[in-house]
Amino acid sequence: MTERTTWFVQDRFGLFIHWGVYAVAARHEWVQSREKRSTDEYGRYMAHFDPDLYDPAAWAREAKAAGMRYAVITAKHHDGFAMWDTSTSDYKVTNTPAGRDLLREWVDAFRAEGLRIGFYYSVIDWHHPHYTMDRVHPQRDEDWDAFNDGRDMTIYREYMYAQVRELLTNYGTVDVLWFDWTPPEKSAADWDSPALTAMVRELQPHVILNDRIDYPEGADLVTPEEYQAKSWPTRNGERVLWETCQTLNGSWGYDRDNHNWKSPELLISLLIDTVSKGGNLLLNVGPTARGEFQPEARTTLETIGNWMRQHSGAIYGCTASDHTAPADCRYTQNGSKLYLHILNWPLGHIHLDGLAGQVTFARFLHDGSEVAFKDADPNLIPQNTDMPEEAGDVILTIPTIRPSVAVPVIELTLV
Ligand code: GLC
Repeated sequence: MTERTTWFVQDRFGLFIHWGVYAVAARHEWVQSREKRSTDEYGRYMAHFDPDLYDPAAWAREAKAAGMRYAVITAKHHDGFAMWDTSTSDYKVTNTPAGRDLLREWVDAFRAEGLRIGFYYSVIDWHHPHYTMDRVHPQRDEDWDAFNDGRDMTIYREYMYAQVRELLTNYGTVDVLWFDWTPPEKSAADWDSPALTAMVRELQPHVILNDRIDYPEGADLVTPEEYQAKSWPTRNGERVLWETCQTLNGSWGYDRDNHNWKSPELLISLLIDTVSKGGNLLLNVGPTARGEFQPEARTTLETIGNWMRQHSGAIYGCTASDHTAPADCRYTQNGSKLYLHILNWPLGHIHLDGLAGQVTFARFLHDGSEVAFKDADPNLIPQNTDMPEEAGDVILTIPTIRPSVAVPVIELTLV
């Protein structure tokens, strides 16, 4: 880990925001591709993008109250529509009824709340006249050769570089740059990823750059999506910096009729599981066309925030532990503090392998109350109603009734 990435592993929890004219269609940010819309057909949403309730300061407060420490927003998604006042194109937010640079307001509001900021930028572009065909393109049913005739990715590249340059020049320090993504028919050559990476590094030397432009050598961050990692991801045998991004309901952009909400408890468990494997969680909201988080998203963030208020000590600054957690539990660790996250409440006792002689104190995190424990006594002769104690274990005695928090956590102070 380098000094550049210290804040990122410390902070652990961020907000992803997918917002663009697709919020007007309100059926997933891929609506243009799914419904095979031409730019003209899809572009009509621009005229109806009027987020009169947009209040980025409120978004920032909600993110912060949820315990999030950074946020990444879509500056441009695959539809090619720019959410800032770019000089490279007319296909931009200033030409909607919003009439102003919404990205700038977002940056200012999130910084004011003390959150770090990042931009998502799609290298895929379904609007640009020189962007060539691939299997996810809205016009994929057309003849590919005819479509590509006269198209020149060099010209698209110049445009894309100019846009990225604007984003990395006009908005102060950008903490994260999140490129998305390289379809099967394309490769690093289409984006000239080494040159793109060099430009990014030159303009924002401290930025954390993700890994979706087919150039892992230049990336900081591995980004599994909608996927709970089995273990800490590695590259060439080395553990990597990683962040999993997750939706609240299976869609990134606003998707009105999708009610497949993940429970806050599931998401809290996912956050814990991720940190227990050394990773970050970037949790997404898809604001509406009028500029608000959906009520379900707000409730979820609030519930997560309630848990984080008491338990963030087991998340911030924590990472994987070398100790092996008991069944149905996860460990996160920060130096001499080992946190036992109890995902499924057991009866009476929890046995901690190999910690005998190492624990000096145990307490619940939510109320600071002491939890009784002892080192196992392997010489104990068990009565015929109980079991022998295993050498090396620490045995915690826990209440029968599970504390009423989303996930109870016991903090173990190690010698
Ligand atoms: C994807 C999707 C996209 C979403 C993203 C988030 O690759 O194409 O719509 O923005 O992942 O990780």
